Amino acid sequence: MTITAHISVLATPYIEALCTDEDGRYIDATFGRGGHTRLLLNQLSDKAEVLGLDRDPQAIEAGQTLMQEDQRFTIVYTDFAGIQQAVEAQGWSSVSGIGFDLGVSSPQLDQAERGFSFMQEGPLDMRMDFESGQPLSKKLESVSEKGLVKVIREYGGEKFAGRIARSILEALKEGKLNTTRDLENVCFHATPKKMRHGHTHPATRTFQALRIWVNDEMNQIDSAVETSMKLLKAGGRLAIISFHSGEDRRIRDLIEKQVHGCTCPREFPMCVCGFKPTMKWVQKKPVRATDEEVAQNPRSRSAMLRIAEKLDEPC
Ligand SMILES: C[S@@+](CC[C@H](N)C(=O)[O-])C[C@H]1O[C@@H](n2cnc3c(N)ncnc32)[C@H](O)[C@@H]1O
Repeated sequence: MTITAHISVLATPYIEALCTDEDGRYIDATFGRGGHTRLLLNQLSDKAEVLGLDRDPQAIEAGQTLMQEDQRFTIVYTDFAGIQQAVEAQGWSSVSGIGFDLGVSSPQLDQAERGFSFMQEGPLDMRMDFESGQPLSKKLESVSEKGLVKVIREYGGEKFAGRIARSILEALKEGKLNTTRDLENVCFHATPKKMRHGHTHPATRTFQALRIWVNDEMNQIDSAVETSMKLLKAGGRLAIISFHSGEDRRIRDLIEKQVHGCTCPREFPMCVCGFKPTMKWVQKKPVRATDEEVAQNPRSRSAMLRIAEKLDEPC
């Protein structure tokens, strides 16, 4: 098996967006193999500090190597629910920037035994943190057909979610669903014949949806964005790269709430809730990869970078 190096997407705009103080304290909440972290460290002074987080034990190992090379860096094994605790353990009360590059890394995808890829034979696992939680095989044992349709439709945007979910559960009952290749085969045959050979493989959206489900990625995003906005110091930046329109909408809406402030119904003549804006958009629309980057790294095609800044004082 070849494990490809992870190419960090939207590297220049992401690092430029995050880096507002060269002596500051920063969090890279999705360390991966540290591509973005290294670029960030290159922009910072000797006084700066960077905290890297990841829920994947293999990413933590890579982070420990970087820790030995660069004293400004610390790695912590946690998911997004543990961000606040990790920051407190560092003795920090606020940070100049927090960055997220969501989804899976190339090494995760390339290792068949992690179960993320339909291109290789592997177990039905898909956990980013393979030391906790339930693998896909276990989750499928207890999900209802209705529940599975919802997962595949909402997280995958899959038109044939109903047929695919039904086929998955049938194959499971018959003992014919044991590996990623079995799952790929089920998705392929559950897709109408004339739709099987398009630009995207018929299993792509279902695999994405199941991965999001196994790793509880939507709830993780809610917790990540809420905590990050609280941890930023005035002028500090939140930069988030996502690869899925559902995730991007969720991120946009969570930030927009803080940009808007007031929660009163539109028809109210004046504000009675008293909520003030705490954030502003650095750029209203998400930043996308250039044609040149997409040509070099096709994974960047769907990447969307949202950037927001903490206000000095609620206004
Ligand atoms: C796309 S990769 C990041 C790559 C990294 N920016 C780089 O340049 O090497 C995403 C990483 O975030 C981690 N991750 C995703 N969701 C997470 C979560 N909820 N909590 C902690 N880590 C998470 C994954 O395990 C993976 O290592």
